[in-house]
Amino acid sequence: MAREDAPADDSRRRFLQSSIVSGLAIAGPGAASDSASDIDPAVSTYPDLVVGKAARLAINQPLLFTYPDAASACLAVKLGRRVPDGVGPDLDIVAFSSMCSHMGCLVSYEAATARLKCACHFSMFDPEKSGQMIIGQATQNLPQVILEYRAADDTVHAVAIRGLIYGRQTNLL
Ligand code: FES
Repeated sequence: MAREDAPADDSRRRFLQSSIVSGLAIAGPGAASDSASDIDPAVSTYPDLVVGKAARLAINQPLLFTYPDAASACLAVKLGRRVPDGVGPDLDIVAFSSMCSHMGCLVSYEAATARLKCACHFSMFDPEKSGQMIIGQATQNLPQVILEYRAADDTVHAVAIRGLIYGRQTNLL
């Protein structure tokens, strides 16, 4: 019985091998894109939004905004030290969804500890480590707003979100 199946298995194997080779050829270096969502599948890109001028952001003073739509509260904060994913002249400006990944309560930034805290069930997130969940009821990191800095006019732009905004089944608008 197994020998009768062999030709079909061989042909299936050859088909799969050629498909993989074709796929690699199509997705080779020339096909690569530098958009954030192509690099990280957890990133959803949206229309560009000017969050504000970098020079107007004071250290540890959060700036509230909504992105990618009016129902999605976010905050940007200048941490005063260079961090991963930080933008601006000092690479220290980051932004996150303000909606806790546990049940959607609004988080706030605590300057004394440089943490994003949720008062509902005491989850805590680290803005210096891309919104990593530190403690509490939340089991997911806080979604991070991907920012870009345009030095020509000193503006900080929101361009994408990494992670699923609380309460949504997808990040699609
Ligand atoms: Fe934030 Fe529960 S909603 S910890």
